[in-house]
Amino acid sequence: MEIDLQLNFKIQYNMYDSLKGKVALVTGGTKGIGKSIADKLSASGAIVVTTARAEGKENSNRHHFIAADLTQADSAEIIAKEILEKYGKIDIIVNNAGANLSPGGGFNTLEDEHWLKDWELNFMSVVRVNKALLPAMLKQKEGTIINISTGAAKQPIWEMTMSYSSAKAALNAYSKALANEVGPKGIRVNTVSPGVVRTPLMNEFVENIAQQSGSSFEDSFQNIIDTVGVPLGRMAEPEEVASIVAFLASSEAQYITGANISVDGGSAPTV
Ligand SMILES: NC(=O)c1ccc[n+]([C@@H]2O[C@H](COP(=O)([O-])OP(=O)(O)OC[C@H]3O[C@@H](n4cnc5c(N)ncnc54)[C@H](OP(=O)(O)O)[C@@H]3O)[C@@H](O)[C@H]2O)c1
Repeated sequence: MEIDLQLNFKIQYNMYDSLKGKVALVTGGTKGIGKSIADKLSASGAIVVTTARAEGKENSNRHHFIAADLTQADSAEIIAKEILEKYGKIDIIVNNAGANLSPGGGFNTLEDEHWLKDWELNFMSVVRVNKALLPAMLKQKEGTIINISTGAAKQPIWEMTMSYSSAKAALNAYSKALANEVGPKGIRVNTVSPGVVRTPLMNEFVENIAQQSGSSFEDSFQNIIDTVGVPLGRMAEPEEVASIVAFLASSEAQYITGANISVDGGSAPTV
């Protein structure tokens, strides 16, 4: 009985076996949400390539790693070249690397350099990675792109996320436009918008807010949950975002493109 249960769990966990043999890129695949996505795609049969500025200590699944700072304009070409030379194709692109790089405090705190940094990492890096790899996907006449956005694109918090939210809102519009352009050519493009997720980035973000406001980590964290408003009453775990990405990457989602799917515990206030 116990063996049956274990087997059943394994079958459910690897339910998207359609990824067998697919080559997947996960940017920022070394930590947090990206690491969970990389592990989930790999568990579903994909060959996974991750990128980040540094490999870190957690590459337990031995994904092929490419070191690249995505705020540098030539990084996308370097990543694409290495993937295509090594594997000869690309089936799944998950543009996950991103972060809120600016200080809180509203419009008067934000200088040009803050805006540009947020836009380079959260928007231009995605545009460049897709531009470098899409020609190969178009040649294959199939493939799928998943861009990781944020609930804060639709629900910006002026005190905390003004430039980050703006860059991610641009990402949402770009994703929809790209889905319309390449859909007729066999490529699906979707966006996943997490709410508040327990990752190293989130910890750092809360610590910064705590420092700036002179309050404790716990109070600052509770303040974020209260400001955002989470009907399910808790943060998401990275695996809960990875599951929807694996679904979107699979043939189970073959009629879904141009969608922006929230994984936010019900935070989005609008229908
Ligand atoms: N955590 C949340 O609550 C939350 C909510 C909504 C949306 N998101 C979005 O989800 C995505 C992942 O967030 P996360 O919380 O998992 O972040 P995380 O824990 O900080 O991980 C970010 C990943 O991106 C890489 N990265 C960061 N800056 C980079 C750069 N300049 N060039 C290349 N790689 C870079 C990091 O590696 P290195 O540092 O070694 O480069 C790491 O692998 C982001 O797009 C974020 O905006 C997160």
